[in-house]
Amino acid sequence: MTEEERVFSGGVAVITGAGAGIGMGLARRCGEIGMTVIVTDIDQARADAVAAGIVAAGGKAEAIRVDVSRPEALDALAQDIVDRHGAVRLLINNAGIETLGFTWEIPVERWETTLNVNIHGIVHGVRAFVPHMLRAGQEAWIANLASIGAFGQMPTQTAYIMSKHAIQAFSECLYLEMQVAGAPIHVSSVVPAMVKSSIFDAEAGKGEPDGAARHRAVMAQMMAAHGMETDEACRRFIAKIAAGEFWVDNDPPVTAQSVDGRIAFLAGREKPALNETTRQLLGLN
Ligand SMILES: NC(=O)c1ccc[n+]([C@@H]2O[C@H](COP(=O)([O-])OP(=O)(O)OC[C@H]3O[C@@H](n4cnc5c(N)ncnc54)[C@H](O)[C@@H]3O)[C@@H](O)[C@H]2O)c1
Repeated sequence: MTEEERVFSGGVAVITGAGAGIGMGLARRCGEIGMTVIVTDIDQARADAVAAGIVAAGGKAEAIRVDVSRPEALDALAQDIVDRHGAVRLLINNAGIETLGFTWEIPVERWETTLNVNIHGIVHGVRAFVPHMLRAGQEAWIANLASIGAFGQMPTQTAYIMSKHAIQAFSECLYLEMQVAGAPIHVSSVVPAMVKSSIFDAEAGKGEPDGAARHRAVMAQMMAAHGMETDEACRRFIAKIAAGEFWVDNDPPVTAQSVDGRIAFLAGREKPALNETTRQLLGLN
């Protein structure tokens, strides 16, 4: 029996944005290790397909449509799951979207959606589920999806990058809140380096300024060429979450490079600078 089976088998996992990409991979892995997986996504058809795949592979899963940008939807989800399944052992606040384009060209609605999904979706996931976890009085795990982008800068991905810096800080403070409260709840910050997913698909860019399409296409190509296979990355994530690690990554050398870059930037009081990789991604060379 693996450590993640020992810790998680027989428990309930709730995963947001689990209809595609990393959320889908996490859901599959939780199904494989014997959890009852609540596959939630804003897109019901995607959630249905992922849950059906888990069941077809011999696991337990159900699909529920949940838009994480609506706090009341997360409240209703938490109550519904606890009523029907009992205590939640693992909550993964995974749903997130990318938004590309100059800050001043991104429409108000897209700005608000990005921050609501990427920041408030995670905050309200925690706010909705933790009181139930505390009442259950059992050991529980919460993992929030940040990114290695939480340690750097990326012009024209400003909305996304600032949301990931925010969630990294949120998870650090939440980890300490659990200690202050004496709560038996582990908190992890998931900081993926590039993992194959649909986050840069053209249709996900609806509402972005016209100029973003080219950048989106370059990012999608880069992900296809260099992204880690989703299931492999998610196996690594679940193993580290089960081990109670705060830092959960799929590519430690890339995490180290990003964190070291941040440390040097702050220690040297450097000015933000366009490096070679950034210039290439933006087609500036
Ligand atoms: N893929 C990567 O390389 C990478 C790297 C770092 C961080 N991340 C983070 O991982 C998480 C998952 O990203 P992904 O790459 O798998 O993306 P993805 O686009 O493949 O999947 C995201 C899923 O979230 C769903 N979703 C979108 N808006 C939603 C909402 N309002 N409510 C509920 N569900 C919603 C989508 O329908 C989709 O199924 C995100 O938080 C992302 O920022 C991804």
